[in-house]
Amino acid sequence: MKSITTFIGAAALATLSLSVFAQPAQPDLRRGAELFGQMCIACHGVDGNSTTVANPSIAQQHPEYTLKQLRDYASGQRQNAIMSGFAAALSDQDKINVSFWLATQTKTPGYARNKETIALGERIFRGGLANRQVPACMACHGPAGAGLPALYPRLAGQHAEYTADQMRQFRSGARNNNAPMSGIARYMTDAEIEAVSDFIAGLR
Ligand code: HEC
Ligand code: HEC
Repeated sequence: MKSITTFIGAAALATLSLSVFAQPAQPDLRRGAELFGQMCIACHGVDGNSTTVANPSIAQQHPEYTLKQLRDYASGQRQNAIMSGFAAALSDQDKINVSFWLATQTKTPGYARNKETIALGERIFRGGLANRQVPACMACHGPAGAGLPALYPRLAGQHAEYTADQMRQFRSGARNNNAPMSGIARYMTDAEIEAVSDFIAGLR
């Protein structure tokens, strides 16, 4: 318990210094909305709530996290054939505009689907897997999965298929833009990944 408290303290401190330090150029929300309507809506839904499980919902996400992902896709630090092209097509100012506009949208709640694995999923989310040094997800992503500004993403309500796919990508190294997440996913089995992803889909 003590280490978790210390950890949250450190994370909050890091967040504080980040927000003071990395104040981005002023976002133009109107331009962000316009761009989203032209380039993103087909896959991520009208308001950033995607209806296709392979495409993440990105409404109400912390804008600094979204901005980091768009920059990572554009630089190749995060690899995805679809998103690399879209991210590279946006200027840095437009990445800021669309990220901050998405943060103004409201995430639609989701549902857990698998009654059999809910207890395991909740146990991992709230307590981790002590025997493999997998920390509790909520230490960084918050008790309700709302994330922690600025760089710990909201997970609550995300499609379980997308979350599980990202965990497998972190585990295999296909997603290689965050060392702590790769370290956490490395020790998880498919069954554990699927259980926690389904639990997260129902968090609100
Ligand atoms: C053709 C479908 C498609 C279009 C159009 C598209 N995306 Fe995506 N987007 C995806 C898919 C699929 C992923 C998951 C990729 C992966 O596994 O990394 C994704 C991932 C993302 C992520 C990462 C989300 C996270 O939680 O880490 C962001 C941010 C994003 N897209 C923003 C955008 C923006 C902004 C646009 C418009 C400029 C856009 N996307 C257009 C399909 C699309
Ligand atoms: C030490 C802090 C920490 C812990 C503990 C942690 N995460 Fe993360 N997680 C992060 C950070 C930071 C990111 C953002 C990575 C980036 O910038 O690309 C992230 C990203 C993610 C993503 C990608 C989200 C998206 O929209 O693409 C998923 C999924 C995820 N974490 C799930 C989990 C799960 C499940 C657990 C528990 C088993 C967990 N995390 C524990 C810090 C943590």
